[in-house]
Amino acid sequence: MVRKAIYPGSFDPITFGHLDIIHRAANLFDHVYVAVLHNTQKQALFTVDERLEMMKASVTAENVTCEVFEGLAVEYAQRRAAIAMVRGLRAVSDFEAELKMATANRHLNADIEMIYLMTSSEHSFLSSSIVKEVASLGGNVDGWVPAPVSARLKEKFSRKEGRKSP
Ligand code: PNS
Repeated sequence: MVRKAIYPGSFDPITFGHLDIIHRAANLFDHVYVAVLHNTQKQALFTVDERLEMMKASVTAENVTCEVFEGLAVEYAQRRAAIAMVRGLRAVSDFEAELKMATANRHLNADIEMIYLMTSSEHSFLSSSIVKEVASLGGNVDGWVPAPVSARLKEKFSRKEGRKSP
């Protein structure tokens, strides 16, 4: 039996924290689908295509596929014949939202097991939101995101700066 898992998220953008979870999940499962949600209702810095491109440029594990999904995560997991959904857990603050999501998903499809991997301590503070805030203010995020993401952030915010200047 090939054991597959999905790792869904917004990945706006992907960080070293996400990559840590991806590589650890790739060691646990035969195949991992890292899936960025195409959500037209949520405002994002990067388009889904940009996020996918950065994910593909950053993930090196051979048994990982990066792609886009729409709709319910459990239905996407079923389409990929995955037995589990992986999520990263940082601080206690993540727990409540993740518990709600896990409970909802369990009601929707109890066959998909939720697997939570504790973020490595060096990434415990790291989030896409922090990366975007620091990058938007000109801070250095090179230690927090892979090089293709850092380049994209610089490009994105230098263009915004350019527009603001007279
Ligand atoms: O990186 P994020 O924003 O914490 O990821 C959240 C995500 C995409 C995993 C979650 O919003 C999701 O699974 N959305 C798909 C819709 C769904 O399945 N909703 C029911 C579970 S709450």
